[in-house]
Amino acid sequence: MHNPQLDKDGRLKHLLSIEGLPKKILNQILDTAESFVGVAEREVKKVPLLRGKTVCNLFFENSTRTRTTFEIAAKRLSADVISLNVGTSSQSKGETILDTVDNLIAMHADMFVVRHSQSGAAHFIAKHVPDHIHVINAGDGRHSHPTQGLLDVFTIRKYKPELHNLKVAIVGDVLHSRVARSEIHALTTLGVPEVRVIAPKTLLPAHVEKLGVQVFLDMKSGLKDVDVVMMLRLQNERMNGALLPSAQEYFKTYGLTQDKLNLAKPDAIVLHPGPMNRGVEIDSSVADGAQSVILPQVTYGIAIRMAVMAILAGGTGHASHGQTNQDTAS
Ligand code: CP
Repeated sequence: MHNPQLDKDGRLKHLLSIEGLPKKILNQILDTAESFVGVAEREVKKVPLLRGKTVCNLFFENSTRTRTTFEIAAKRLSADVISLNVGTSSQSKGETILDTVDNLIAMHADMFVVRHSQSGAAHFIAKHVPDHIHVINAGDGRHSHPTQGLLDVFTIRKYKPELHNLKVAIVGDVLHSRVARSEIHALTTLGVPEVRVIAPKTLLPAHVEKLGVQVFLDMKSGLKDVDVVMMLRLQNERMNGALLPSAQEYFKTYGLTQDKLNLAKPDAIVLHPGPMNRGVEIDSSVADGAQSVILPQVTYGIAIRMAVMAILAGGTGHASHGQTNQDTAS
């Protein structure tokens, strides 16, 4: 079946989910991101790959990291960036999403970055826009958050380059997590041999093992000897009714403390997509500790988002192919 994210030649046209994307494309994004990491260290933190292009950030749901890093990424690629303030836009007067999109297309937008609480929102927009316009899903409901999955794998690869030797545990509210779904698809597609999920039964989707993961209901067996621990936020806003006795009880059983982390390999790294609930899914001593790579995840998010936008815009997607004279001189 045709993947709507790819054009007829198999090139990336939209980024809507990791599911169904070939390993070759995931590696293209990761390798391209590698070339963008150094841009932040240049005196002029810019390359002209998206000069003359207009990127519209449409965030219909709150965000700190994703929205800001997409904006920084687009600016580092020299795009013109519009971050629509949905709260003060004509959405509040009843305008439909597609009318908003059509009006921005009439202003010559080239790319939309979309976050929405409804699963499928970015797909809906991608089906509507003309061929020359690209759509990136920045998180839709509990479905998918592809750039988060990619930046998580990129961060893991930075610290643990041999993906084919790793044991990775994803811990917490898998049921409501678009991040977990994207991470699982990215890790399994890229050949990580052992991906575990650890959660109480009430926070696991039915038949989650069909995604190619091993299921653990307790931290003691689930964390044993893993190389990577990926914590998930407890997503109270997506829970209908009580799925847990209390946040304190959850922390006692599934919260990542140093004692529990000591069950993993001594050099294991800890990731969290943010925002964190300290004292609920993770203890501050771990979040701020020596094994945490939570802030590097945020930094690498810029390079991943630059890579995705550069590839979609049809450039070579390599930082060295977009140097300005100033860049070359510095
Ligand atoms: N990880 C993540 O999506 O964070 P934000 O909600 O702050 O964008």
